[in-house]
Amino acid sequence: MNNMKIRSKLLTAVVLSSGILSAASALATDASTTELIKRGEYIAVAADCGACHRQTREDGAPYAGGYAIDSPMGRIIASNITPSKQFGIGSYSEKQFADAVRKGVAADGSNLYPAMPYTAYQGMTDDDVHALYTYLMQGVKPVDHAPEAKTSLSFPFNIRQIMWGWNLLYRSDKPFAKQPNASDELNRGKYLVEVLGHCSTCHTPRNMMMAEESSQNLSGSPLGGWYAPNITPDKSGIGSWSQSEIVTYLKTGHLAGKAQAAGPMGEAVEHSFRYLSEADLNAMALYIKQVPAIATPTAQPASQPPVATDINQVIVGQGSQASLADSSSTHGAELYNGACASCHGIKGEGTKDNFYPSLTSNTAVSGATAQNLVMTIADGLHRKGSDSDVSMPAFGQQMSDAQIAAVSSYVRNQFANIQEPVTAEQVTTYRHGGDAPFIVRYVNCLMAAGAIVVLLILFGLLRLRKKP
Ligand code: HEC
Ligand code: HEC
Ligand code: HEC
Repeated sequence: MNNMKIRSKLLTAVVLSSGILSAASALATDASTTELIKRGEYIAVAADCGACHRQTREDGAPYAGGYAIDSPMGRIIASNITPSKQFGIGSYSEKQFADAVRKGVAADGSNLYPAMPYTAYQGMTDDDVHALYTYLMQGVKPVDHAPEAKTSLSFPFNIRQIMWGWNLLYRSDKPFAKQPNASDELNRGKYLVEVLGHCSTCHTPRNMMMAEESSQNLSGSPLGGWYAPNITPDKSGIGSWSQSEIVTYLKTGHLAGKAQAAGPMGEAVEHSFRYLSEADLNAMALYIKQVPAIATPTAQPASQPPVATDINQVIVGQGSQASLADSSSTHGAELYNGACASCHGIKGEGTKDNFYPSLTSNTAVSGATAQNLVMTIADGLHRKGSDSDVSMPAFGQQMSDAQIAAVSSYVRNQFANIQEPVTAEQVTTYRHGGDAPFIVRYVNCLMAAGAIVVLLILFGLLRLRKKP
């Protein structure tokens, strides 16, 4: 064999083996990218990105945006976050994406409204941001159109720059801090609850400027017409729930004899929590059970048992939904027996298998406010949990606010012995999104006050200039 031949053989061998090597490494990259995309998808589910960034249509493409968040200042439309270059986030770099998710700053430098929960996501680790970015860029189909609806907020909230000042005051830029001397499980739970699951964005009360009051963490907050209850381990919260009961509730959306998840919590269960691993749910429950307990006011049952209703006096079982529409009755018992008893039982006992839950031991009925009861009656309930698909009809069309008030008062009175009636005005307020927070109610006064301050300063400056 001459040198030439040896050389060419060697060369072929080298070329061949490097070919094999690069093919192998391409396979390895593919496998690790697939792994990364899968991890990113799990993070997206745990952080519930899809719930807000979905299309309004049931069959809409994932992450195409358009879902409207009714805030007290107006409607905010969630963006298209598919990798479409023109209409989505296809041209976002990973750094720009990280800034949007953790700081609430879009690629063009404009401020996002905190309806996008960046105040919670700001603790997201770099690893998780990387996986999430890889998933959204490579694991999601681009959708090349913009959401139909557009964000429309009232003045001055339509000026995005005002968020700059708000961020300065209320956005933390500290990375997620592990609890020292705590187990890995507890810290995983803390990360899931505080950062990805953003529980506090709903369950923590807000101050006048709509920022979360961290000293009152998870102690309950109104949420539109709903109320996200106190979930700290106090008696007035969920102190009596065991770790495994919390897991069951998050996973299935119902806990027999205690609570059902309707409204925004039902959605969180359906789109996010029911998909989490058993280990992650347990970690979350472990963490929830040891956050500082905060006592909040509860509804006080009367000392005397409720006056028994004479069922014979009311029409039982005849009030079909159609006849309810014609009826102007505001007789609570009559309405209950006509509209609710077929599922929940005359005595509110529910069914034995708990498919139709008892109302005698239910946190929406006995809650500090009647909000969740009223909203469940008005909007109904549709939820997929890990074990079932439940639904209760909405009565908002058939019943007037006065009727909803009457049936709510009856339910609270008979099944939780709460005497204080629910009024038609309260029902109207809840159904229109609850009491507006301070900043919205008083923004006009604040603006007037601001304008006066500006005028006074100008006036002062003018006088200064006039002086020799
Ligand atoms: C509670 C609802 C909600 C959740 C949950 C949510 N977002 Fe958003 N997001 C919004 C809204 C609303 C906007 C638009 C805000 C605005 O217009 O100021 C937005 C904007 C964005 C933007 C800016 C896009 C642009 O250029 O307009 C990105 C990126 C984004 N979200 C990513 C995510 C990711 C990733 C997740 C999950 C980790 C997530 N969002 C979870 C509501 C949500
Ligand atoms: C989008 C808002 C929202 C988010 C996010 C949210 N919750 Fe809720 N949560 C609610 C509302 C509203 C209710 C009341 C539901 C009802 O009674 O039908 C509720 C109810 C609950 C209850 C039952 C309390 C009771 O007394 O009945 C628990 C427990 C709970 N949430 C835990 C959590 C945890 C843990 C997280 C985060 C992992 C979380 N929630 C995230 C809005 C939210
Ligand atoms: C067709 C059957 C049906 C009718 C009629 C019905 N419900 Fe329900 N209700 C349900 C189901 C199913 C659930 C949810 C069970 C679950 O979450 O597992 C539910 C849940 C509830 C809850 C718990 C909500 C929460 O947030 O915890 C309340 C309170 C309630 N119903 C009250 C009423 C009242 C009051 C009426 C009459 C105005 C009524 N229901 C009529 C089937 C019904």
